[in-house]
Amino acid sequence: MFTLLTYAALDLLWLNLFAKNFIRKQVGQYLAAQPDLKAGAVFYLIFTAGLIWFPVHYIDHLLNMQRFTLRAGSLANMQLRPFTLPDPAPGEVRVAVRAVGLNFADIYAIWGLYSATPKGEFTPGLEYSGVVESVGSGVSHLHPGERVMGVTRFGGYTSHLNIDARYVVPLPEDWDFKTGASFLVQTLTAYYGLKTLGALERGYNVLIHSVAGGVGLQALKIAKAYECFVVGTVGSDAKVDFARKEGCDRVIVRGEGFENDLKNALDGRPLHIVIDTVGGRYFTIPFKMLAPMGRLIVVGSSRYTSVGNKPNIFRLLYYFLTRPKIDPQQLPEINKGVLGFNLIYLYERAELMHQLLQEIAALHLAPPHVGHVLPFEKMHEAIRLFQSGKTMGKVVLEL
Ligand SMILES: NC(=O)c1ccc[n+]([C@@H]2O[C@H](COP(=O)([O-])OP(=O)(O)OC[C@H]3O[C@@H](n4cnc5c(N)ncnc54)[C@H](OP(=O)(O)O)[C@@H]3O)[C@@H](O)[C@H]2O)c1
Repeated sequence: MFTLLTYAALDLLWLNLFAKNFIRKQVGQYLAAQPDLKAGAVFYLIFTAGLIWFPVHYIDHLLNMQRFTLRAGSLANMQLRPFTLPDPAPGEVRVAVRAVGLNFADIYAIWGLYSATPKGEFTPGLEYSGVVESVGSGVSHLHPGERVMGVTRFGGYTSHLNIDARYVVPLPEDWDFKTGASFLVQTLTAYYGLKTLGALERGYNVLIHSVAGGVGLQALKIAKAYECFVVGTVGSDAKVDFARKEGCDRVIVRGEGFENDLKNALDGRPLHIVIDTVGGRYFTIPFKMLAPMGRLIVVGSSRYTSVGNKPNIFRLLYYFLTRPKIDPQQLPEINKGVLGFNLIYLYERAELMHQLLQEIAALHLAPPHVGHVLPFEKMHEAIRLFQSGKTMGKVVLEL
């Protein structure tokens, strides 16, 4: 939009200056006095050229590929820029992106706090949906025109991308692009955490932090598919009804009374699995309350987040210094497990990703909840909204 407005402003300025100049210098006298064919022709040519220039620039802009790029460190560094792509290489497809899904990790990548963040200029973004435009040699399972969704190890905040076809899957027929851009990262995270690491079994009692968020809602659906009793936490009262409606058995608003609230919610039930996305005391208290053989799965630490272009260093430092610490020698004595993972490493294991997707498909989960939709150009606004901690479901940008 910025580029477009710049073009429009330049065009108008150019036309205006030229027309005014010309009218003053030539046409005024000329029309008032004697007709001058040469001047009239020049005016006509310049005016027509100006009129053509704007639409040509406009169309050029629309056809342009654009992506957000920055050097990690500050959200303020991120800008939408035109770029070009070569034809897809063997094994790749070119996707025209229609929707981009935000993930919490994007914030840490933009801030430069994520160890996997590429060095130098990069495009954030881990997932998208769109339409296959062209395929490289050796790709037979995807075809131009096919609606798809996919994951990418960065590079998702873009209008187009060439991507290894193994990380692109067909979009279910009854899903729109927004839904497609909301599925893969958060569902794979929730499933890998609960099932692969947590060894989820039917009837387990599960605690899911940020249950109204992207990962949280998918974890809730998976746990419910296994007929589990789910206690979910949220950061504010505004999310309680929503979480209940989505099927959460007990909803706790995190706060001073968390330990008691969790005890009351469990009401004597053993706690088998915790999905921790917040950290700090919301790690320590449930860990203490885990049943023997229970597993606490750490997938994130959203408490480090604050609103702003750059991280709040003092807050980071304080949380870092006061982070929970586990004595490994104590684990066999108390018979509990702590596991962690980062989905980005699954990108290097495409076969495992497809196997997990098949297992997830067998659960027939309802489509993910798209909570907030903004136009692609409003990426900064969307990230600030995400940082606020007020979102419910997925935040998606549409192209
Ligand atoms: N390991 C992996 O591969 C992986 C992959 C995807 C996501 N994750 C992690 O999973 C968690 C959820 O990710 P998501 O993308 O689905 O996001 P999300 O849950 O949709 O949104 C984040 C939520 O975190 C909570 N939160 C707690 N403290 C916060 C703070 N200081 N600032 C802002 N929000 C805060 C807020 O909900 P409430 O306050 O209501 O709880 C907020 O809505 C994140 O920790 C993320 O890093 C990990």
